[in-house]
Amino acid sequence: MAIPFISAQEAAEFVKNGDNVGFSGFTSCGTPKTVPVAIAEKARKEHEKGNPFKINVFSGASTNDYVDGELSRANAVNFRTPYQSQGDMRKALNSHEVHYADAHLSELAQNLRYGFFGKLNVAVIEVAEINDKGEAILGTGIGITPTIAKIADKIIIELNSTISPNIRGLHDNYLPLDPPYRREIPIYKPSDRIGSPVLNIDPAKIVGIVNVDFAGKVAPFSPLDETTMQIGVNVCAFLTAELKAGRIPKSFLPMQSGVGNVANAVLAGLGENKDIPAFEMYTEVVQDSVLKLMESGKCKFASTCSLSFSDEATHEFFKNIEFFKDKVLMRPGEISNNPEIVRRLGLITMNTALEADIFGNINSTHVLGTKMMNGIGGSGDFTRNAYLSIFSCPSITKGGLISNIVPMVSHLDHSEHSVNVLITDQGVADLRGKDPVQRAETIIENCVHPMYKQLLSDYLKLSKAGQTPHKLSAALAFHQSFKEEGDMSKTDWSKFA
Ligand code: COA
Repeated sequence: MAIPFISAQEAAEFVKNGDNVGFSGFTSCGTPKTVPVAIAEKARKEHEKGNPFKINVFSGASTNDYVDGELSRANAVNFRTPYQSQGDMRKALNSHEVHYADAHLSELAQNLRYGFFGKLNVAVIEVAEINDKGEAILGTGIGITPTIAKIADKIIIELNSTISPNIRGLHDNYLPLDPPYRREIPIYKPSDRIGSPVLNIDPAKIVGIVNVDFAGKVAPFSPLDETTMQIGVNVCAFLTAELKAGRIPKSFLPMQSGVGNVANAVLAGLGENKDIPAFEMYTEVVQDSVLKLMESGKCKFASTCSLSFSDEATHEFFKNIEFFKDKVLMRPGEISNNPEIVRRLGLITMNTALEADIFGNINSTHVLGTKMMNGIGGSGDFTRNAYLSIFSCPSITKGGLISNIVPMVSHLDHSEHSVNVLITDQGVADLRGKDPVQRAETIIENCVHPMYKQLLSDYLKLSKAGQTPHKLSAALAFHQSFKEEGDMSKTDWSKFA
């Protein structure tokens, strides 16, 4: 029987108050664009009538304005996981209008299958193609799609006509078995294909197909500034030295790179560095910089969960698909970020911190300890299992009113046990094989901005007690000083002597 075509409004009628709703995609790539807007409209109408209407939103990672923006502005979200980066959603979860559970991206799909959130009522899935047997070609991001397609009671398809037909063959859809039957995931090098380019969706569960004829925007990057470029230079210098010292094999190791400007600066730096051989990537997003690396032959292959290119780069990519098609595979988030594979392949991971402390603990998520920025994303999946885990951040923020290196992190995402190297615009702190005091001395010497060096050295002298010396009453004094005086450098240790 043919699957019916329906409008976004008709599709939204299948979504009820209190439903668990899963959305396809990863970042704005592969994420639905019209059904979430219709759900938001429905919520507004229900609220006007005095009826409650909120849903629980599950996605691969961040989404787009149509999902997190529209739904949060319509006050239509009760619960959100695992990651977001949209301003209105951020406001809503920081004010507890939305209950947000920040979670490792690799874990959500299996936790949904384990039933940790109850049953999934509806899945909304963007596709490039689908036939009446339910054989689908997904869009430019996968995320949790194979899982939500399998477990949802009802499925709504968004058929997006703007996705290039050249996307066919780039997906590697694969679902691991669940415990106690799980086996090894048979990826031994980044380019190993283990699944299918087609996702089989049970056509009996598809309630309708919504036609979509526009593409979502991918946010542009800010131009590289001196600080991000210097961080990039420092990361490259460190990796070159490791290669020369024989601690990275001559053939190099696959790289994972986080999102944002620093990541782009690092990749650009690696591309220009003649001492670094051509490498592969095993990562969760590829951005414009990776395309350039492929064109120059520096990046041989990228396993990813989404193709987060600018419009221009997307056009370039699909126009030259013959060149790129054997250099990229898109996988579900639980495979692109899988700890087993990260450990097996021996990844060099590069992620960004909001703040680090002098002992090497990392806060990637909470501004000044309380306000959620985005979430932990995939950084924990990669960091904890890396061959070599690197975190970077600027040494100061807001013109020096904030030091990104503090006595004690105000929120902990990645502990000292998982962080091998810290890199700022000031330099590199190699933390391997060092005790906490040695780590602190190295970080203060190499990574801290000159305006905060003395303050942090003095903090270390405040307490000599214990393996990890802290003066607990003063440990968050930098944050307190910023709160009271708007400037961390006004911290006065004499109050704590
Ligand atoms: N205290 C308070 N504010 C801080 C801060 C600190 N220590 N460090 C940065 N900020 C502010 C910046 O001033 C900026 O504010 P603005 O938006 O008002 O200008 C904002 O936080 C973002 O900082 P920026 O330097 O632009 O960071 P970024 O875009 O490189 O993002 C993270 C940094 C940590 C937020 C981002 O990498 C992230 O969300 N990471 C977690 C998920 C992740 O790692 N995913 C990748 C895994 S593959």
